[in-house]
Amino acid sequence: MTWWKEAVFYQIYPRSFNDSDGDGVGDIQGIVEKVDYIDGLGVDAVWLNPVYESPQVDYGYDVSDYQAIHDEYGTMEDWEELLDALHDRDIRLVMDLVANHTSDEHTWFLRSRDSDEEYEDYYIWREGEETEGEEGVEHVPPNNWESAFGGSAWKYDAGRGEHYLHLFHEKQPDLNWSNPDVRDEVVEVVDWWLEKGVDGFRMDVINLLSKPDDLPDGSPESDWVGSEHFVDGPKIHEYVGELHERAFEPHDAVTVAEMPDLTPDEAERYTDDGVDIVIPFEHMELDRGDAVDWYTTDVDLVELKQVFSRWQEADCWTCLYWSNHDQPRAVSRFGDEEYRVESAKMLATVSFTLRGTPFVYQGEEIGMTNPGFESFDEIRDTGTLERAKTAMADIGIKGFENVRDIVNYWTRDNARTPMQWNSDEGAGFSEEEPWIKLNSDYENVNVEAAREDDGSVLSYYRELVDARHENPVLVYGDYELLLEDHPEVYVYERSLSEGGDEEDAESDRMLVMVNFFDGEPRFSLPDSYDGTLDEVVVSSYGVADEADASTEFELRPYEARVYRVR
Ligand code: NOJ
Repeated sequence: MTWWKEAVFYQIYPRSFNDSDGDGVGDIQGIVEKVDYIDGLGVDAVWLNPVYESPQVDYGYDVSDYQAIHDEYGTMEDWEELLDALHDRDIRLVMDLVANHTSDEHTWFLRSRDSDEEYEDYYIWREGEETEGEEGVEHVPPNNWESAFGGSAWKYDAGRGEHYLHLFHEKQPDLNWSNPDVRDEVVEVVDWWLEKGVDGFRMDVINLLSKPDDLPDGSPESDWVGSEHFVDGPKIHEYVGELHERAFEPHDAVTVAEMPDLTPDEAERYTDDGVDIVIPFEHMELDRGDAVDWYTTDVDLVELKQVFSRWQEADCWTCLYWSNHDQPRAVSRFGDEEYRVESAKMLATVSFTLRGTPFVYQGEEIGMTNPGFESFDEIRDTGTLERAKTAMADIGIKGFENVRDIVNYWTRDNARTPMQWNSDEGAGFSEEEPWIKLNSDYENVNVEAAREDDGSVLSYYRELVDARHENPVLVYGDYELLLEDHPEVYVYERSLSEGGDEEDAESDRMLVMVNFFDGEPRFSLPDSYDGTLDEVVVSSYGVADEADASTEFELRPYEARVYRVR
């Protein structure tokens, strides 16, 4: 039993949370101003997206100094004030560790590019072939790997006369983890922050650290060409285990590992390496369509239930989430904007009642939706722009209007519009033009309005946080899926035996039922539930708190209920 299993995390994307100094960009003092709000949610920990010095090409995931705070966000003193303010309220702070790559403006890279002896091997440099092309000499990359943002994962550097690897933007060169000096540097950085009082790290794309020395070509059919070589690469468990032993374990720090393409089997191995919480992606990729590798298809609930069930049974501890700064807004994607409140509550019910640790992404607790972008000029995310550019060139289309729906469905900017605090112009986020457009629904969807409404998504989140804190069965209980083939409802039981496994052991049981769609599905529970549903613990439609004698149910659109089972 540990704190991070029992905790609820709140994720803050600092750029879009609250602007204290009127430059249209969120900042650390802005978060300090809202610490009582965060405390009021009842959450136990904050995961803060990167606030380190950075050219902000990938909004902080391109770090140019791991031990300094980015100017727009404030100073180290501001950060210390935030840490104290959170700790004063018993809220832990988890920072983001971006260790697969740095910015190309980091001094390590600048020196590596200059072939400075000490830094020469800090990054992954390789010679490529040269060919004579129409426009003179062309540099052919060392292999066919692709960047997650589209295009080759290699960039030729004329100064050094070699290509460097970048699995993300070309301004995010990959560090060379096979160099022990690089590993020492990262341990030092982590240690430095933990000494300052940080409680743990969310580790960015941490399963991509190890690349095979011979850098073989990847299958051209793959969704991400090269990934079979760099996802869970040859020495990954050695590196992750070493980080754990040298950096995290001495401080008893929590680690939350972001790992694309993670399977439950690999997750178990990472857990053996010392990782605490894994972030699976499988449930977020069921709507991946074929067309230009973007996300387009409807989610099949039966398949989604299978995915969740597989992870529930795996020997690891997962982060439970429907949204974060890289994903569209959950209500728009998995729920229904027509039933905004109902579907936001339904999704939250699932997150808070599965086995794992719920992560709430800022704005989710008020049911924020995708804003709808009208042109590429409104898009701020380099990842979206790069991917769209590459995909459009591949299939030979031009113009935003031809990709409007798909971009609006998928872009990460959906999650990055400013937090909606009130109905003032600027939604209480900033008095200036924000760095990214506001969702036009802010006059109705905002914290102030939600606070005054008992039926709001926000009030419901408060109930869920309490339910989670008060019922160990929701944290530690076993999971059993019911009605696995029902296409519209997700029903499962959580049960926790107390007092050992003897016959007289007391068992705490809860039954969760949610309607994932806008219909009114009927279903019956197995006969064994006859007369056992004792009390309604949480109900999104405010069902009376009384026993339900029947086993026949009909749920309203997106309705969610949690019963205590006798
Ligand atoms: C995952 C982060 O969440 C995302 O925002 C970033 O672009 C990539 N890793 C690269 O750091």
